[in-house]
Amino acid sequence: MNFKPGLEGVPVTHSSICDIDGLNGKLTYRGYPIEELAAHSTFLETTYLLIWGELPSPQKLRDFEAEVQMHRRVSFRVRDMMKCFPATGHPMDALQSSAASLGLFYSRRAIDNPQYVYDAVVRLIAKIPTMVAAFQLIRKGQDPIQPRDDLAYSANFLYMLTEREQDPLAARIFDRCLILHAEHSLNASTFSARVTASTLTDPYAVIASAVGTLAGPLHGGANEDVIAMLEEIGVPGRASEYLDQAIDKKRKVMGFGHREYRVKDPRASILQELAEELFARFGKDEMYDVATAFEKEAQDRLGPKGIFPNVDFYSGLVYRKLGIPRDLFTPVFAISRVAGWLAHWREQLGANRIFRPSQIYTGEKVREWLPLEDRDAMENV
Ligand code: CMC
Repeated sequence: MNFKPGLEGVPVTHSSICDIDGLNGKLTYRGYPIEELAAHSTFLETTYLLIWGELPSPQKLRDFEAEVQMHRRVSFRVRDMMKCFPATGHPMDALQSSAASLGLFYSRRAIDNPQYVYDAVVRLIAKIPTMVAAFQLIRKGQDPIQPRDDLAYSANFLYMLTEREQDPLAARIFDRCLILHAEHSLNASTFSARVTASTLTDPYAVIASAVGTLAGPLHGGANEDVIAMLEEIGVPGRASEYLDQAIDKKRKVMGFGHREYRVKDPRASILQELAEELFARFGKDEMYDVATAFEKEAQDRLGPKGIFPNVDFYSGLVYRKLGIPRDLFTPVFAISRVAGWLAHWREQLGANRIFRPSQIYTGEKVREWLPLEDRDAMENV
């Protein structure tokens, strides 16, 4: 049997959602280059494109935006449930639980009914940001803020999270970040979403399982660790020494490396530009110089192995400037990636076969069962 650890290079589905050219650093959603979407589109328009395959007409976009706006609120029952979560718990765990809880409220499982599918998409896109913001206020001992209908999607999320209306430039930059993180083919969380979808369970379970997968430090969780690493380095002059030690001790550098890219992740380049745009307007984050010094040092030492900054390397610096706490970086990633997960959910249902891979068994052959009283001799084994 041809075993590939981590399924490297093994296709597990046909997909028309997103294409990565890892040698040339190109990424497209439904054929549209990420650079164009990030420059001209909005997150909700990109979400529509990803999920339904085409850019919406002006009327369809207005309808979709209006539906999402109408469903932003979450039930007081969900909020009350979140109040029982420990304030010290990680917001990704809170998000996973609250996303799963939506299945209790909308549990028809009518996944072959187009209206149910549309409603589920709208609810998840609308409510995930509200739940992320709600947990942030709840854990500070405050009541969550209700969404504001006069604010667009990203501006409203920042308002619910930071309790103040943000500058339009900040909201636009945040919206562009969401576009950049919305989809990335068969990464671990999307694969997880497709596996869950293939059992024909409800979409809330699909998203909850993907959120749990995104949380790990080798995946979405890396964006938090990048800031910790930059702070540990402290000043640009220490970047080289830190990198030497990491290479010496075979420690992974967070925010670097990607299974698909052999060059700098195109999303990292755009995020770096967004960081610079934010700093020009609102003042520089001193860790930015550490980050650029580190990237320069890494070019000679990790570059020859095809290891370059990935999407997580500069995103944290942008989020930090927007006033987003560090442990919310990955939930923010989830707010965006829910678009890609839902696109894959629909695509999976369109040509479904349950995922059930095989294994190469390495355990014992059939053994004789020993009664408990005869197992004393095993103590010393
Ligand atoms: N720092 C140092 N060395 C690395 C790194 C890194 N970040 N990434 C890969 N390598 C080396 C690794 O040590 C190995 O070297 P060798 O062949 O000498 O043993 C080689 O490159 C291949 O590494 P791998 O772990 O087998 O590669 P992978 O394709 O299985 O893993 C990855 C991809 C993203 C998990 C990995 O690059 C990594 O752990 N990066 C750090 C965590 C991170 O930034 N994750 C975010 C990924 S992008 C966004 C997302 O998915 O959420």
